[in-house]
Amino acid sequence: MKTADIRSTFLDFFRAKDHTIVPSASLVPSNDPTLLFTNSGMVPFKNVFLGSEKPGYVRAADVQRCLRAGGKHNDLDQVGYTARHHTFFEMLGNWSFGDYFKRDAIRYAWELLTEVYKLPAERLWVTVYHTDDEAYDLWHKDMGVPAERIIRIGDNKGAPYASDNFWQMADTGPCGPCTEIFYDHGADVAGGPPGSPDEDGDRYIEIWNLVFMQFDRAPDGTLSPLPAPCVDTGMGLERLAAVLQHVHSNYEIDLFAHLIREASRLTGTADLGNKSLRVIADHIRAASFLIVDGVLPSNEGRGYVLRRIIRRALRHGWMLGVRGDFFWKMVAPLVEEMGEAYPDIVTRQAFVEQALRGEEERFGETLEHGMRLFDEVASKSGKIIPGVDAFRLYDTYGFPVDLTADIARERDMTVDMEGFERAMGEQRARARAASNFATKAQLPAEVASAVQPTIFTGYESLDLADAKVVAIVRDGKPVEHLADGEEGFLLLDRTPFYAESGGQVGDTGVIRNPSGALAVQDTQKVGGAFFAHFGTWQGSAPLAKGAIVGASVDGAQRQATVLNHSATHLLHAALRTVLGDHVTQKGSLVAPERLRFDFSHLKAVTAEELAEVERMVNDEVRRNAAAEVHNMGYDEAIEFGAMALFGEKYGAEVRVLKMGDFSTELCGGTHVGRTGDIGLFKIVSESGVASGVRRIEAVTGAGAMARVADEERILGEVSSLLAATGDDVVEKLRQLFDKQKKLEKEVESFKAKAASSASADLAETATDVAGIKVVAARLEGLDAKSLRDSLDVLKQKLGDCAIILAGAADGRVALVAGVGGTAMGRVKAGDLVAEVASKIEGKGGGRPDMAQGGGIDSPALPGILAGIPAWIEGKLR
Ligand code: ALA
Repeated sequence: MKTADIRSTFLDFFRAKDHTIVPSASLVPSNDPTLLFTNSGMVPFKNVFLGSEKPGYVRAADVQRCLRAGGKHNDLDQVGYTARHHTFFEMLGNWSFGDYFKRDAIRYAWELLTEVYKLPAERLWVTVYHTDDEAYDLWHKDMGVPAERIIRIGDNKGAPYASDNFWQMADTGPCGPCTEIFYDHGADVAGGPPGSPDEDGDRYIEIWNLVFMQFDRAPDGTLSPLPAPCVDTGMGLERLAAVLQHVHSNYEIDLFAHLIREASRLTGTADLGNKSLRVIADHIRAASFLIVDGVLPSNEGRGYVLRRIIRRALRHGWMLGVRGDFFWKMVAPLVEEMGEAYPDIVTRQAFVEQALRGEEERFGETLEHGMRLFDEVASKSGKIIPGVDAFRLYDTYGFPVDLTADIARERDMTVDMEGFERAMGEQRARARAASNFATKAQLPAEVASAVQPTIFTGYESLDLADAKVVAIVRDGKPVEHLADGEEGFLLLDRTPFYAESGGQVGDTGVIRNPSGALAVQDTQKVGGAFFAHFGTWQGSAPLAKGAIVGASVDGAQRQATVLNHSATHLLHAALRTVLGDHVTQKGSLVAPERLRFDFSHLKAVTAEELAEVERMVNDEVRRNAAAEVHNMGYDEAIEFGAMALFGEKYGAEVRVLKMGDFSTELCGGTHVGRTGDIGLFKIVSESGVASGVRRIEAVTGAGAMARVADEERILGEVSSLLAATGDDVVEKLRQLFDKQKKLEKEVESFKAKAASSASADLAETATDVAGIKVVAARLEGLDAKSLRDSLDVLKQKLGDCAIILAGAADGRVALVAGVGGTAMGRVKAGDLVAEVASKIEGKGGGRPDMAQGGGIDSPALPGILAGIPAWIEGKLR
C-alpha cells in the first residue's frame, strides 16, 4: 500500500466512525509559548483538552505534520543512525474530546490495524501503564491479545508518572497514561520486546500510541484532572508504511526511496544505504516544511533549529564529496512526493528553494574552513574535542555544537559539552532568553471552568446595554468586587469589545452602571475564549460580580483601527500581486494610528514596487467594493479561494472577508463596510526586520490625510524659505547646493592665498642664528592645515631654517614646526613643538623635520615665541 493510500484509508476509516476530518495545523503552534514546534498530533487541540476551547465536534481525526527537533521531544541526533527516527514526520491521529474513552479507542485501533490494514494479529504486541488494569483487560479479554504479548510498563524514567507509558506533551499541559501497539518485524531483525534489555533494537517497533488524556500537569509537577477524560492517539505514518510495504526501515518506504534516489544522484553516491543520504532525505522534509510554515534560518529560537537541520544536511553532503550547492535541489522531488497531501509546499516551492539556497551559500563559505579546523583539533585532542574549540567552530565557522558532536561521533570522539557551555558565556544566555517561551499570566483555572466563553457582539454594534459581569480578576485571583480605585479585569457574558487577535489591537471604551464606570484601557483574550476588559473601577459603590453593565466601545478608535485592518488585507493582496506568491504574512499590528505588516521577501522592496503597491491599494479603495463577510466551513473557505495564514489555527467554522475580486482572507477581525471607507492609503516606511522578512508601515483615512497635510506643511516651509513654489523647490535647492559647492572651493583658494601671503611677510621676520633662519610666530585664526601650508611655503623660501607657527583660534593654539636644509640634524622640529607646548599646557610630537602639537592660548605666548631664537642658540652650543 502506497503512503498516500495509507493516509486516505486512515481518514476514511475514522470518517465512517463519525469523526470530523481536520486539516493539518502549522509546525509552529499558534499562541502557545510553551512549545517550539508541533511535536505531535494533539498540539493543535491542547486548549480543547484543557476545556478553554470548544471546537464544535467531539470526535476528530487528522494527518498532522510534526517536528521533533529542539524542545522536549528531540530526535535530531538519532536521524541517520536508526531505521525509524525522523525530525519531520506525519502523525495519523484520532481524538475523542469527552466522548469515547479506553474501550472504543482500543477497539477502533485494533479493527483498523487487523481488518483494514490487515496486519497479522500475532505480530502485534501491546504495552499498558503498569496500574492500568482496565486497558489490560480490554486488550486481553475483548480483543483476545494473549497475555504473553501484553506488557505492563511502570515508571521507568526515574520519577512518578515518568514512564514510556505515560505521555505528556511538554513539561506542562495535558498528559495521561497510554497504551502502545508494537509490530514485530520478525526474528531476522535484532532486538527484544518492549521493556526488555534489547528493546532499542529494530525488531519490535512501536507503531501506535493511544493516550488516555486525564490530567493537566502544572509547572510544579502536580497533576489536576482535565474537565473530561479524552483520547489522543498517534500513529507514525512512516513506520506504518514500512510495515505495510514489508520493509524494515522507514527509509525504504516509497516516499523516502524517491528522495534517497535523488540525493544519491545529486551527491554522486552509488550506495543507496549510505546513512548520509538518509539524513539528507529526512532533513529536506523538515527544512522545507518549516520554511513553508514561516520559519527562516536565524540564530535564535525556531530559526536556529532550522539552521541546525540545514547545516547538518549540508555537512553530510560535504562528506559525500559535494563542494557546491545541492540541498535546495531536493525541494523539487519533495514537492512531487508530498505536494498532493500538502498543497502549500507546491505554491511555495520557489520561495523554499530560494531560502535554502541562501543558507547554503552562507554556510558554504565557512564549512570547508571549519572542517579543516576540526581535523586539526581532532588530530591533537585524543578522544574529546575541547569545549573552546567547539565554541570556535560555532562562533567563527557557524558550526552548531550538535553538528560538531555529530562529526565527532563518526570518529568515535565526543565534545566537552561543559567546556563548550562555559565558553558560550553570554551568547548562550542571550540565546536562552530568546527561546524562553515563558508562559504569561493566565486566567485562573477556577474561573475558566466556571464561566462560558465570551460571546462577541462587536461585529454588529459597538454598544451593549445589558452585559453581565461573570467574573472579576484582580492580581491574578478571582474576586467578588472591584472597589473604587481598584484595577483588574472583567469578563462579561457578551461584549462588543474586540479582544486583541490576528494583529488587531484590543478595543478601548467604557463599561458602566449607575454607580460608576471602568475606562477600558485594553481588551485581551485569556484562556483562549474569554475576553478580559482591563481597567480601574471608579464609582460610588464597588462593582460586583453578577452586575448588569452597559458596555460602549470607543467608536473613533475602533473605526480608525478598522480602516487599518481592511487596508492590511488589501496591502497583503497587492504585495502578492506585485512581488509574487511567496509573500506571506509574518506578523501584523493593526492599531488606530497605523498598520504594520511583516512579510516574507528576500530583498528590499524597490521604490517603484512600493509605488505600484500603494497605487494598487488606492485603486481598490476607489473601486469602493463592499467588504463581504461569509461564515463557512474551513474546507469550503479554502475552496472559495480564501487565503489562510500560516501559524494561525482555525476552527471548523471560519469567517471569510472578501473585498471585491481583490482580496479574500480568513479573518476574525473587524472591517469596513466598503473599501471606500479607507479613504486614502499611504505607505510610510519599508525596512528589513530579519533575514528574509520585510516590514511595511502605512496609514489610512484621517491618519493618511494628516500625514499628507504634514508633508505639505513641511514642503510649504521649505518653499517659502527658498522663495519658490511647487515644482520649483527641487530646482532651487539644486541650484543652492551647486552654489554652495562653488563657494566652498573659492574659500579654499582664498585661504591658500592668504597663507602664502602671510608666509611672505613672515619670511621677512626671520632672524639668523648661527646660519639657521629662525621664525617663531603667532598667527590669528589659522587652523592646522593652513599652518602646514604656510610652513611649506616658508621652508621653500628660507632654505636652512627652523620654524614654529602657532595658530590661535577660540582660546586654543595649534602648533606646527618644521626644519629645513642644513638645519636638519642640528635642530629637531619635535623639540621645538615640545618646548612651546610644555609652556601652554599642551603637547605634541612628530618627525625631526616636521612636528605638530597644540595647547591653550595664553598672553604669555608671544613672549615664549620671542624666546625661541635664544633657545635654539642655547641648544646649538
Ligand atoms: N500524543 C501521542 C504521541 O505523540 C499520541 O505519541
